[in-house]
Amino acid sequence: MKFAVLLILAYIIGSFPSGVVIGKLFYHKDIRQYGSGNIGTTNTYRVLGRVAGTVVLFCDILKGSLAAALPIWFHFTPPHYLVLVFGLAAILGHSFSIFLKFKGGKAVATSAGILLTYNPHFFIIAVAIFVTILCLSSMVSVASMLGMVLITLTSFYYHDWFLTLVAFALTIFIFYRHRENIKRIRTHNENLVPFGWYYHH
Ligand code: G3P
Repeated sequence: MKFAVLLILAYIIGSFPSGVVIGKLFYHKDIRQYGSGNIGTTNTYRVLGRVAGTVVLFCDILKGSLAAALPIWFHFTPPHYLVLVFGLAAILGHSFSIFLKFKGGKAVATSAGILLTYNPHFFIIAVAIFVTILCLSSMVSVASMLGMVLITLTSFYYHDWFLTLVAFALTIFIFYRHRENIKRIRTHNENLVPFGWYYHH
């Protein structure tokens, strides 16, 4: 019973649409109506600027971290793989939010938050992979998708089959959530960040 209630709590934590809330509350704008229409960090940054984008990044990472930490705080045994299970509940919340008629974001920052709780060492490596690809491609979508592929491959280093399985499943899911971005990339219409190698070429 406690397990089910906490799993629902993880889903509700993930459901909190920080981009939409911050946009409406402080900027009187619904970010879903602007830019890519996504509720995440990139579109918030694009539409509302650096401060709002940074706050949304922290909120979305925090959602994943908090939800993933629930089985540790409540001493579930073994908590090891349950951290990922609760994290996945937060991903479901983020992408199919109860507050947004079961619509939502692309799950990148929330996935990072889960990894921060599960394996901080791997989190730092994952961030380094993401930032490197972003600096080369100048596209957050490319950094998100290609980053997930490389992060999944890197996960083999930890000899943790459940981690690799979850990373693989998230890679497929994140590609699926980026299908509009993929169309834009193919037609050279994807939004660029104003820095990086590709932006300057
Ligand atoms: O995490 C989302 C990012 O990869 C792409 O965002 O707004 O460019 O579709 P956006």
